[in-house]
Amino acid sequence: MATPVIRNLVGFFLLAGLGLIACRHQPLLPNGGATISANCSTDTVYFVNDVLPLLQSNCAMSGCHDNGTAADGVRMTNYANILEEVKPGNANDSKLYKVIIRTDNERMPPPPRAAFTSAQKALIQKWINQGAKNNMCLSRCDTNSFTYAGAVKPLIDTKCVGCHSPGNLGGGIDLSTYTGTRSVALNGKLYGSIAQLSGFSPMPKNSAKLSTCEIRQAQRWIQAGVLNN
Ligand code: HEC
Repeated sequence: MATPVIRNLVGFFLLAGLGLIACRHQPLLPNGGATISANCSTDTVYFVNDVLPLLQSNCAMSGCHDNGTAADGVRMTNYANILEEVKPGNANDSKLYKVIIRTDNERMPPPPRAAFTSAQKALIQKWINQGAKNNMCLSRCDTNSFTYAGAVKPLIDTKCVGCHSPGNLGGGIDLSTYTGTRSVALNGKLYGSIAQLSGFSPMPKNSAKLSTCEIRQAQRWIQAGVLNN
């Protein structure tokens, strides 16, 4: 009577064990296999901190370069996919860089969406020329720095503006200006969405949740009165 049960149990543990072994080869961490440095060097552009959020929020949307649409076979969704459009060490010969610096209608993100700013283009160029590494660093965010210009705006420009500016107004919300950001900060939606509280659409849409430090910075900026500082 007990034998089939035991056999099932043995089979279950065998399969579970195999499953664990198989899973070891999958990237288990949210950083997608990136090399992590404790300290952030000011000379280095980091893929996970700087480049991936820009490409996810400006390119990897439905209808464009998410995994589902993959327009032109291009997916701006993770390191491996992005690397297909890059020649490490040579920005000028990389499709990713060439399309973002075009000035005609073939420019990416395409009109009427805003082009990347020159600082953002330079960042992507530098990342490619530094070898297009899958890297990230940990110490850049400081919860004691929470001004609009010093913390909130750079965060929003990197992770949100691609879907929240006049060329592409996700949810009718414009985060490209202080005024637009102020109104969602005051009505509670900014914090609700990034802290991913129930009753709010979790943001940034289709990307990793902001770090605890980033959420805390935004929260402190809001609590201190949503100043244009
Ligand atoms: C890939 C596109 C995309 C990105 C990136 C994105 N959003 Fe959104 N956002 C949307 C869309 C679309 C909506 C409308 C609601 C929905 O579809 O979920 C929205 C809605 C919102 C709302 C309203 C939420 C609510 O519950 O009413 C806020 C606030 C918001 N976004 C803030 C942000 C912030 C802050 C970031 C960056 C940290 C961000 N979004 C990044 C597309 C995006």
